[in-house]
Amino acid sequence: MGAAMGAAMREALGAAMGTAVGAACRGLLDYKTAKFALTRNRRVGLLHRLLQLGVLGYLLGWVFLVKKGYQETDSAPRVSVITKLKGISVTEVKDAGNRLWDVADYVKPPQGENTFFLVTNLIITTKQAQGTCPESPSVLDGICREDADCPVGNPVVRGNGIKTGKCVMFNTTHSTCEIYSWCPVENDTLPRKPLLAEAENFTLFIKNNVNFTKFNFSKDNTLQTNDPTYFKSCTYDPFFSPFCPVFRIRDMVEAAGETFGNLALLGGSIGVYIKWDCDLDHPAALCQPQYSFSLQDRNYNFRTASYYWDPQKRHYRSLLKLYGIRFDISVHGQAGKFSIIPVAVSLGASIALLGAVTVVCDLVLLYLDSKADFYRKEKFEEAKPPKDKAEASV
Ligand SMILES: *[C@@H]1O[C@H](CO)[C@@H](O)[C@H](O)[C@H]1NC(C)=O
Repeated sequence: MGAAMGAAMREALGAAMGTAVGAACRGLLDYKTAKFALTRNRRVGLLHRLLQLGVLGYLLGWVFLVKKGYQETDSAPRVSVITKLKGISVTEVKDAGNRLWDVADYVKPPQGENTFFLVTNLIITTKQAQGTCPESPSVLDGICREDADCPVGNPVVRGNGIKTGKCVMFNTTHSTCEIYSWCPVENDTLPRKPLLAEAENFTLFIKNNVNFTKFNFSKDNTLQTNDPTYFKSCTYDPFFSPFCPVFRIRDMVEAAGETFGNLALLGGSIGVYIKWDCDLDHPAALCQPQYSFSLQDRNYNFRTASYYWDPQKRHYRSLLKLYGIRFDISVHGQAGKFSIIPVAVSLGASIALLGAVTVVCDLVLLYLDSKADFYRKEKFEEAKPPKDKAEASV
């Protein structure tokens, strides 16, 4: 009896497993497809088409045409900038005589970097030697009425030297502390007109190379020209020669919205932006830089000195307070080239948006439409389990 039961159980189990495997197999190879409910709702139909058109327009118009979404981009090129200034100026300074300024004198630092300083005005104090002299009356802490105002050994706050303990006459109207310093102290009255007024006609040559490493593409801002005199004769002009890399200083200051005379007097800082926007699906010759200029700051000066010994072996210096324009050249670039991956990504995103369109239309149809209740009933069939016989007969 036990054996019979065992056999029956085995058979039952085998049959059950057989049907389960059969069901699983059928499930695996079955293909399910969604059943649609067609409505003749014109409003939602129109909304659906409009949204689809919108997505299509967004993809073709904005993503592909305007934003060039089919391109891979490189927006961090390697750049190099070399600068060179040209021009000569003569200054006439009281008790320093005429002085000629050439590029080695008025550009600091002289290496031709992307940041440099062009001298346009200066205060020159010649023949300073270390010794004692009255402090300048323009220094507040240097003004005194009696010796007690000038404690020995204290440096003058924001001044030029160290107090010796005496209060002396600076001129007929001012008394100031005597100081140990480079004497005489600087007379800080600025010339009314910039001393290097000719600087407006100096020219700046900018040589700029960009290298888009992602695309192994590099380009110079200098024109590929066979005419060797071109760079010697051309001058940048935003309309007539926008690709000439030789800039007149005055033009740059004016493009930044300031007049040369004003900026040259007290100095300032001008930003030069070079922008490359290259579409490498087009010929390389069309990849050209755009230049723009902006005024970054006003009032810029610093001091520097040159030292010498006189025949009696006394140590002297000439102090220069230099006012001028600082140029900051910065380069930004981006290049794009067709690539299949961004195309696939943009397409994928747009297909997802099309899916969202259906969701939106469904929401409108099922919840906002005037016949929403009816549509909802049609769309969602209530799944009812078959009722018990007893229950049904009641
Ligand atoms: C700069 O050049 C222009 C035209 O070449 C000239 O008229 C002007 O006087 C020059 N400026 C100075 C300060 O020399």
